[in-house]
Amino acid sequence: MMNRKLAFVGGGSMAQSMIGGLLANDYDPELIRVSDPDARQREALSRDFPVMITEDNLACIDSVDVITTAVKPQNMKQVLISLHQYLKPSSQLLISIAAGIRTKDMMRWVDCDIPLIRVMPNTPALIGYGASVLFANQNVRLSQKNMAQNIMQAVGEIAWVENEDLLDAVTGISGSGPAYFFRFIEIMINAAQKNGLDPELSKNLVLQTALGAAQLAKNSNLSAGELREQVTSKRGTTEAALNFMENSRIEAVLEDAISAAIARSKELASELGEK
Ligand SMILES: NC(=O)c1ccc[n+]([C@@H]2O[C@H](COP(=O)([O-])OP(=O)(O)OC[C@H]3O[C@@H](n4cnc5c(N)ncnc54)[C@H](OP(=O)(O)O)[C@@H]3O)[C@@H](O)[C@H]2O)c1
Repeated sequence: MMNRKLAFVGGGSMAQSMIGGLLANDYDPELIRVSDPDARQREALSRDFPVMITEDNLACIDSVDVITTAVKPQNMKQVLISLHQYLKPSSQLLISIAAGIRTKDMMRWVDCDIPLIRVMPNTPALIGYGASVLFANQNVRLSQKNMAQNIMQAVGEIAWVENEDLLDAVTGISGSGPAYFFRFIEIMINAAQKNGLDPELSKNLVLQTALGAAQLAKNSNLSAGELREQVTSKRGTTEAALNFMENSRIEAVLEDAISAAIARSKELASELGEK
């Protein structure tokens, strides 16, 4: 993997995080190219990364092994159509990190049998703590799956699904998930302040508690439910809060919220693709 030529079409926040992650993992900068039409974006890239930077997408993808399209979902169709004659399906792998665009739509736009991997990342990828789920179409070879895996691991953890439809569920869980936790954090910080803690202490306590709980759950052999039971003594403070949450149907509320995100993911995929 470490000697493959990589192209990023679109050099925004996500591409910058991925390139940063790859370089931090000792990837040879001479093997990385990135194209972006925005001069300011190219300047930012050249300040941070000693990689080849161009405004010309075709120069960027010429004779590379992996092309990652890191443009906004609404630009994907135009970008793929503009690249399609220049793609080399027998030797190149295409990776899309655009939220919501289905492989069947991308395959129609590229109009060739290219190996294609669709990735659903999330925003903590920007600091190397992403959770990405990958789906490969039937043209992808094992060596190419490994390449995609290595690229996405530069910005966090990865998993594969065999059924593309599951990416809608992934969107509702890890794609939109950071915002659910931000909302929870926001509510707890406000509650801390309402109960007399100063803003800085409120923020620090809530964030460290969220981080600590996630790390503890991740490093423990116990399930989240078992960890919760461990800290919930009979007639104690935690039990009082949890009982209140259960009586307020917190589980049903969160389940319905996630279902709403999944339904919207399906709708958006149809809007961004073609009927
Ligand atoms: N940010 C995240 O954490 C995150 C999480 C999950 C998924 N994603 C996905 O990752 C993709 C990129 O997101 P981002 O946050 O990195 O977006 P971004 O910061 O807006 O970067 C996209 C870049 O692509 C450039 N671009 C537009 N049209 C182009 C073209 N025809 N050829 C080459 N480059 C072009 C844009 O330039 P202009 O500014 O001039 O348009 C911009 O610099 C999106 O599809 C998004 O769904 C991102």
